[in-house]
Amino acid sequence: MKSNEVIKKYLDFFKSKGHSIIPSAPLVPENDPTVLFTTAGMHPLVPFLLGEPHPKGKRLVNVQKCVRTVDIDEVGDENHLTFFQMLGNWSLGDYFKKEALSWSYEFLTKELKIPKSKLYVTCFKGDNDAPKDEEAAKIWNSVGVEKDHIFFLGKKDNWWGPAGKTGPCGPDSEMFYWNSDEKPRKTQDPENCKTFVEIWNDVFMEYNKLEEGKIVQLNQKNVDTGMGVERVCVVLQNKKSVYETDLFEPIIKRIRILAKTKNERSERIIADHVRAVSFILAERVLPSNVEQGYVLRKLIRRAYRHAKNMGIEVSLSSVAEVVIKQYSDAYPELNGNEHFIFGELEKEEEKFQATLEKGLREFERNIGGVERVIPGKFAFDLYQSFGFPLEIIKDLAQEKKLEVDEIGFYKELTKHQSLSRASTERRFASGLADHSYGAKKLHTSTHLLHQALRLILGEQVQQKGSNITPERLRFDFTHHGKMTKEEIKKVENLVNKQINDSIEVVYEEMPLDEAKKSGALHFFDQKYPDKVKVYSIGRFSKEFCTGPHVENTSELGKFKIVKEEGIAAGIRRIKAVLE
Ligand code: ALA
Repeated sequence: MKSNEVIKKYLDFFKSKGHSIIPSAPLVPENDPTVLFTTAGMHPLVPFLLGEPHPKGKRLVNVQKCVRTVDIDEVGDENHLTFFQMLGNWSLGDYFKKEALSWSYEFLTKELKIPKSKLYVTCFKGDNDAPKDEEAAKIWNSVGVEKDHIFFLGKKDNWWGPAGKTGPCGPDSEMFYWNSDEKPRKTQDPENCKTFVEIWNDVFMEYNKLEEGKIVQLNQKNVDTGMGVERVCVVLQNKKSVYETDLFEPIIKRIRILAKTKNERSERIIADHVRAVSFILAERVLPSNVEQGYVLRKLIRRAYRHAKNMGIEVSLSSVAEVVIKQYSDAYPELNGNEHFIFGELEKEEEKFQATLEKGLREFERNIGGVERVIPGKFAFDLYQSFGFPLEIIKDLAQEKKLEVDEIGFYKELTKHQSLSRASTERRFASGLADHSYGAKKLHTSTHLLHQALRLILGEQVQQKGSNITPERLRFDFTHHGKMTKEEIKKVENLVNKQINDSIEVVYEEMPLDEAKKSGALHFFDQKYPDKVKVYSIGRFSKEFCTGPHVENTSELGKFKIVKEEGIAAGIRRIKAVLE
């Protein structure tokens, strides 16, 4: 079965079960600067999983374009990718385990015609946060999964989320295809044996993880599912690798025509990265040294190095051309930005061409003396002087059967680079940051509170700390003596006035000096990058901040201070909520 047919069948199937089809959200999340890329179908739906009504109802289905960079080192093996498409269906406080699991089973066995003897499932085995998921196992068994095809595993394998540090999460149940004619042995389970291919994950999102790590019940029980199109095509097309499926066939074919030598790993890295690059460029991200732009730069440069490795002399545009042709029906933004994609790809290749050759010579000159581990300083010099992303250095090391001292590399990086650059590297390494609408609203409220305190209590008020969960904000500030009831009331009223006035929240990126001169609030003793973001809430508040914030104060609701207390000499703490 071709990939297009799988996608169509999935959307049609869930439509017939009362789901609305929603479009794929952009790869670069809208209004959420804390996350670089959309990493799962649930990602753009976080506010709705937390309880906001979705305009399309309580049952949704889509195919979402995703980028995950955490596994970038493993791209080149059989099944790892940076860009992929995820099919998903959601219940926003509507149906739960019974429907989700029986529909999954029905879709796999009836629509995709996967024999039941090949299907295995895992369920959560229980811990302090949630009980053993006997219910899921019972449902699986009742629809037709034999008991010896059901495994119970722990949190590492059968718990999904939150996508960032906080947010919706819960136990999950995963479905696997057993890719062999023999039966699995007793010692083989889906998480430790590669013959099992994971195809789908049903997450029962009834919990919310808070900032301090506590897991609490959500007001609504959600279902979030995710099926990787590429993975399921491996099974349905009877292949060994995602790169052999129809999703990659024309791309690999083009690379083979252009290349002078054969190298399976390089060829796969080029195919994956150019596909990802085409989709990212289609959203008009430019290669740069920060944020999404830097991820894009890494992907282009690494693909380019592998292309040179294989003797490809032309631009990777000739590979992107195939990607655009293949995916434009489903993603017209590719076709619409074709010239931009080619142009930017070629510009970045040109930029890197000269330093790549010099850097490679430098690498060869110095590598002789290295035993086992490339020192952090050596790696950092390649990065700093020749623009080699860490991934290229790791590739070069791997080709010489060496390792890179990554901790040493990051140490050098923090010592020499602007904070924003270092933080992009770290975020790249770890994936994501916090992501929830509740936290975002409280973050904007914190700015309002800060300014209100300065207006009511005096300019000596300085922020000493802030901590936000999706449920409440906590704000520490300098002030002598307890606030009176009247002062508390006045601060609340002033914040609520800004909310009622529906003020737009905007930010501007500016050079550090200029930002300081603008009078925006900031910490005096903190080191900032050369360029900072300044968030303004009308003329009321102006602060250095990386965000995220809501777009308009009218989104906040009613602000209420629930506690005011002293925590140290001259330092007070306020806890506040939005009602
Ligand atoms: N959000 C879940 C996943 O990404 C379904 O696996």
